[in-house]
Amino acid sequence: MTDAPDLRPALILGAGSDIGRETARLLAAKGRPIQLAGRRPEALARDAADIAARHGVPVTTHAWDATDLAAAGAFLDGLPEMPGIVLCAVGLLGDQEETQDDAEAIARIVATNFTGPAAMLEAAAARLSRLPGKTAVVGIGSVAGDRGRARNYWYGAAKAGFATMLSGLRQRYAATDLLVTLVRPGFVATAMTEGMDLPGPLVISAEQQAKLIVEGVEKRRHHVIHWKWALLMSVIRNLPEAVFLKTRF
Ligand SMILES: NC(=O)c1ccc[n+]([C@@H]2O[C@H](COP(=O)([O-])OP(=O)(O)OC[C@H]3O[C@@H](n4cnc5c(N)ncnc54)[C@H](OP(=O)(O)O)[C@@H]3O)[C@@H](O)[C@H]2O)c1
Repeated sequence: MTDAPDLRPALILGAGSDIGRETARLLAAKGRPIQLAGRRPEALARDAADIAARHGVPVTTHAWDATDLAAAGAFLDGLPEMPGIVLCAVGLLGDQEETQDDAEAIARIVATNFTGPAAMLEAAAARLSRLPGKTAVVGIGSVAGDRGRARNYWYGAAKAGFATMLSGLRQRYAATDLLVTLVRPGFVATAMTEGMDLPGPLVISAEQQAKLIVEGVEKRRHHVIHWKWALLMSVIRNLPEAVFLKTRF
């Protein structure tokens, strides 16, 4: 156990995600001990062994389900060491057409993308803000949360809720050394987007997205978004509603 903030572990929630896994690797390469958490911790064992062998840092695995909101605080308190960075990379895109008529699917989308991650980062912020030195909680939202679209509005609405919660959390802890960062990926080539017909120039790799995240934390940025998506979303957000309704993207 250490009081040195740079040597505290990074906890990756949803560590089986492609973006989460790549971010864990980059942080480990910088000497951070790593805690990998997911709902199937046995599936994280291979990544844990690989990261530990390549980077010579301790790596542990932990069971955590984002939809178990009440368990967030106890989960953190049960870790072998309180992390200095907590990244929530959990997400569930779901199928919009199946979701919109199914109350259980709606609840699952909202719990996985909004209330679960938000409750966890709330609990993490309370603990990390009390640690000495600079700490960070990082949530992965989505540009889908910037403006609701017919093709994925339950997912987008949940990500928008998560973004708003992180904005409030950031203001609440503004006088402390806790950084609260929202990451808004556009299209990233991962399991989530596999098989989708995406516009090539707007797609980045999970590793590129992970680099943006790590750089954002190092530079103490509140928002992380690829410059192409920042430009595009500033246009999309400002389209008049009458024009937006006729678009198909
Ligand atoms: N890929 C993109 O284009 C894109 C764009 C915008 C935002 N994002 C966001 O980026 C983040 C990472 O996504 P990704 O693209 O790397 O997708 P991914 O590989 O599909 O990862 C999603 C992860 O979420 C985990 N998860 C789902 N439900 C969970 C639950 N109830 N409890 C714990 N973990 C749960 C999954 O765990 P299992 O392994 O157990 O299924 C999986 O590891 C997500 O927040 C996603 O919404 C992605």
